[in-house]
Amino acid sequence: MHYPYQIESYDAYKIAYQKSIKDPAAFWGDIAENFTWHKKWDEVLNWNFTEPKIEWFKGGKLNITENCLDRHLEKQADMPALIWEPNDPEEHHRIITYRKLHEKVCQFAHVLKNNGVKKGDRICIYMGMIPELAIAVLASARIGAVHSVVFGGFSAQSIADRLYDAQAEFVVTCDGAYRGAKDIPLKSVIDDALIGNRTVKKVIVCTRTRTPVSMIKGRDVWWEDEIKKVETMGLHDFPAEIMDAEDPLFILYTSGSTGKPKGVVHTCGGYMVYTNYTFVNVFQYKTGDIHFCTADIGWITGHSYIVYGPLSAGATTLIFEGVPTFPDASRFWDIVDKFKVNILYTAPTAIRSLMGFGLGPLQGKNLSSLKILGTVGEPINEEAWHWYSEHVGKNNCPVVDTWWQTETGGCLISNLAGITPAVPSWATLPMPGLEMLLVDENGKEVIAQGDETVSGNLCIKSPWPGILRTTYGDHERCRTNYFATYPNLYFTGDGALRDKNGFYRITGRVDDVLNVSGHRIGTAELENAINMHAGVVESAVVGYPHDVKGQGIYAFVIYQGSHGQDTHGTGELVRKDILQTITRIIGAIAKPDKIQFVTGLPKTRSGKIMRRILRKIAEGELDSVGDISTLLDPGVVEEIKNGRL
Ligand code: WT7
Repeated sequence: MHYPYQIESYDAYKIAYQKSIKDPAAFWGDIAENFTWHKKWDEVLNWNFTEPKIEWFKGGKLNITENCLDRHLEKQADMPALIWEPNDPEEHHRIITYRKLHEKVCQFAHVLKNNGVKKGDRICIYMGMIPELAIAVLASARIGAVHSVVFGGFSAQSIADRLYDAQAEFVVTCDGAYRGAKDIPLKSVIDDALIGNRTVKKVIVCTRTRTPVSMIKGRDVWWEDEIKKVETMGLHDFPAEIMDAEDPLFILYTSGSTGKPKGVVHTCGGYMVYTNYTFVNVFQYKTGDIHFCTADIGWITGHSYIVYGPLSAGATTLIFEGVPTFPDASRFWDIVDKFKVNILYTAPTAIRSLMGFGLGPLQGKNLSSLKILGTVGEPINEEAWHWYSEHVGKNNCPVVDTWWQTETGGCLISNLAGITPAVPSWATLPMPGLEMLLVDENGKEVIAQGDETVSGNLCIKSPWPGILRTTYGDHERCRTNYFATYPNLYFTGDGALRDKNGFYRITGRVDDVLNVSGHRIGTAELENAINMHAGVVESAVVGYPHDVKGQGIYAFVIYQGSHGQDTHGTGELVRKDILQTITRIIGAIAKPDKIQFVTGLPKTRSGKIMRRILRKIAEGELDSVGDISTLLDPGVVEEIKNGRL
C-alpha cells in the first residue's frame, strides 16, 4: 500500500504540524480521504470541551473492517495479515493471509449473528493471544457490535463488574490460555463471573487448551461447532454493517483515581484514521515489513498497534501468545530471527527484565532484519534505552518512545522513526494535530523564559481524531475526569518537562494512579480490594521506584483481625490472605510488592490520608517527609518509618 500522508523528512513533519494546527479540519479531512467510506462525512470536526462533545467525520458512513480487510483483497490477498507464534516454540506457528483473515472474520460474524448479536450490542471478549482473539474483535466490528476486551489476567469479579457496567449480552472466551509455564482456565473464570449475571445470553467458547470446561445448555456454545454450521452453508462473506463515523467501536476499561474502572469509548471513524496515521508515521511502516508489537490485545496498545493500525494499513502483524522469558529469555530474539521481524514495539519493563539476563540470550540470534524499535507504557530510563538501541538495534535502528493513553486511541507524543530526532528518555515532539501545553496547579500555562526547560501538568488544547468520546454509561464522569480539572483543556494526568526545542519528557502520573510494568492501577481501586479482606480496617497504597517494573506497589495496612497471625508475629499468613483477596477482586497484576502493617495512617484533622508522607517513606527518603505538624497524630509517622520494609 502507498501512504500519501507518510511523513518523510523533519521538514515535512514541521510543515504537516503547522498545517494541522492552522486548519485541523482540512488536515484530517485530507487524510481521511485515503480510506474506504460508503458516504462522505458532513463535517470533519465539531467539538467543545465543556460538555464535552467531540465529533469527527460525523455523517460519514463506513465499516472499519472493510478498511482493515476488504480493501486489501484486490492487491494483496495472499500477503500475510497475521503471523501467530504460539506459547510453546515446539508447536507450529500460523500464517493467515488477508484473504483467509477476511473469510474467517466474515464466518465468525455469521456465528455472532446466528447467536443473536445485533448492531450496538456489547460483546465481552476474554481470550488468550490466539488469532481467534483478533478474529473475534474484527467480527464484532464487522457486525457493528461494541467489543469490550478484558485482559486474561483479570479476575472473575473484575469481569463481572465490566459485564454489568457495559450491560453485555454476549461473551467470547476460550477453554483456557497458555502464558509461559501457566495455563489459565478462562472459561471457568467466566463461569464464576456469570454467577448472578442477568444480561449475558450466550457464551461462545473457542478451544485452545482442552482444559475440561462445563458447558451450560442453552447458554454456552463451541466456536468450532458454530463455524462448522456456517461452513456447511457455504458462507464466506458477510456484508459489513454500515456504521456512522461516530458510532461506538469499542469500550476498553481502565483505572483512574476513583474506585471503579471506567469504560473508555472509542468510535469508528476517528479511531480508524488516527491509529492508521500514527502507525504509518511513528513506525514509518513500509509495505511488506513485519511488525511485532508484544502487548496483549487486552490493552489499548494491542487494539491500536496489533489489530486496527497495522491491518488498516495492510501490514503484516505478529501475534505472540507467550511471555518474553518462556521457555527462556531468548524468546523475543528467537521470534525476531525466525520471522525476520522489522519493527519491534515493546515496554520498558520487558527491556529491563531482559537486560537482567545479560547478553547471553542475544548470542547467536540474527537480529539484522530489525529496522525500527519502539517503547510504550511508561517512562524509559536512559540505561534501558541505550541497552535496547545498542544490543537489540545494534546502533542501527531508530528507537521511538511513544507516549499515549487508553483515552487517546493512538500515540500523541513520539519521535517518528528515523525522521525526527530521538533523545533517550524523551518522547520528544507531539504528533501533527496535537497542541500540548503545560500548566501549573492553578491551571496557569507554564511558559519558558528563554532557553529554560519547564515542567508542569500536561494538557491538550483541542481534540484529535483518536480522543475518547465518553466513558460508557456516565458522560459526566468523562467530563469530571478529563475536562474539568482545567477548563477547556483535556488533562492527561501526567506531569512533563518541555525543553527549549519543544521536546517533551514525561515524568509520570500526577494523580493517584500507579503504573506497574506498564499497567495502570488505581490506588483507590486497590485499597478497596485490600479493605475487602475481613481483618483489614484501613489501607493506603503508594508507588515506589522499582528496577524492573518501573513502579512497585507499597501497601500500608491496619489489620485488626485475630485470625491468621503466625507464631512469629510477622503477619506472613495475613499477607498471603490479603494477596489472595486482591487476586480475587482485581487480578494477580495488582498484587503489592510490599505490605507493611501499621497501627495508624498519617491523616489530616479532616481525615485525609497524606500520601505524600507515605510515598516518601516507601521511597526510603525518611528524612524528607516534610511538615507533619498538621497531622492528627504526628507520632504515627515515626512508627511507620521504623517499620519500613
Ligand atoms: C499512561 C497511560 C499507551 C498504551 C499503554 C499504557 C504512561 C504511556 C508512556 C511513555 C512515559 C508513558 C503515562 C500514561 N505512559 N506511555 N512513552 N513515556 N509514560 O496505556 O494504561 O492507558 O496508561 O501510561 O503515565 O498516562 P494506559
